Amino acid sequence: MADIVVFGASGGIGQHLVRSLSADHTLLGTYHSADPGSLAEGAAYHALDVTDSGAVNAFVAGVQDQLKRPVLVYTPGVSPDVSTHKIEDADWERALATNLSGAMYVTRAMLPIMREVEWGRIVYLSSVLARRGTPGTVAYSTTKAALGAMARVVSVENATRGITANALALGYYDVGIIKTISEENLQKHVLPQIPQRRLGDPQNITEAVQFLIRSDYLTGATLDINGGMVGV
Ligand SMILES: NC(=O)c1ccc[n+]([C@@H]2O[C@H](COP(=O)([O-])OP(=O)(O)OC[C@H]3O[C@@H](n4cnc5c(N)ncnc54)[C@H](OP(=O)(O)O)[C@@H]3O)[C@@H](O)[C@H]2O)c1
Repeated sequence: MADIVVFGASGGIGQHLVRSLSADHTLLGTYHSADPGSLAEGAAYHALDVTDSGAVNAFVAGVQDQLKRPVLVYTPGVSPDVSTHKIEDADWERALATNLSGAMYVTRAMLPIMREVEWGRIVYLSSVLARRGTPGTVAYSTTKAALGAMARVVSVENATRGITANALALGYYDVGIIKTISEENLQKHVLPQIPQRRLGDPQNITEAVQFLIRSDYLTGATLDINGGMVGV
C-alpha cells in the first residue's frame, strides 16, 4: 500500500485514477478550479494551483505526515490549439507553467520526503505528442517531451535512494481532454491514426501506475500506452 498524491484529481484521468487506486492505496487529490466532490471513500482533496511554487510547498508541508510511502502522479495539462507563428505569449506561458513548471515544483517539494524514507515513485502524464509532430501543438508537445527529460534526470539523481521516476506517453483516451475534440474530428483525424482504431480505456493508465508502484527497477523511462501509435 502506498500514499498517492494525484495532482489534477478533478480531471478526467485524475478522477479515474483516484477512484481506481483508492481500494489498494491511500489517496490525496488536488484540484484547481473544479472541486471533484467525493470521488472515492477515504480520499481527500485540496485546492492547489500547481503553477504557484509557494502554494505547492505549503500543500506538501501540510500533508507530509501522511506520506509514508509517497507516490506522486502529475496530471495537470493544458493544450492551446494554435500554430507556432500565431501563438500568444499568454498561451505559451500558461502551458509551460501548468504542464512543466508545476511538475518540477511538486517534484522538488516531494523529493525530500521520498529521500528521507528512501522510497518513492514519480509518474508524469506525458503524451504521444511528445514523440510526433502534430500541427497546432507547439506548447503541448514541447512541454510533454520535457517531462520525459525530467523523469530521466530525477531518476538518475535519486537512483540509489529507492526512488523511481517515469513518464507515461499516453495516446488518445476516452476521457478528459479528448472531450474537447469534435466527433467529426475524432472520426476523420484521430481514430485513423490509432492502429487499434479505438480510444484507450483509462484503466490502462491505472494499471501502468500500479505496475510502476510495484516495480523497483524501471526508472527514467517513458512508456508508450497508445494502441500502437508510435512509429505509425
Ligand atoms: N485524455 C487523453 O486522451 C490524454 C491523452 C494524452 C495525454 N493526456 C494527458 O493526461 C493528463 C490528464 O488529462 P485529462 O484528459 O484528465 O485532462 P483534463 O480532464 O483536462 O484535466 C486537466 C487537469 O489539470 C488540472 N489543472 C489545470 N490547470 C491547473 C493548475 N494551474 N493547477 C492545478 N491543476 C490544474 C485541472 O484542474 P481543474 O479541472 O480543477 O481546473 C484538471 O484536474 C494531461 O496532462 C494530458 O495532457 C491525456
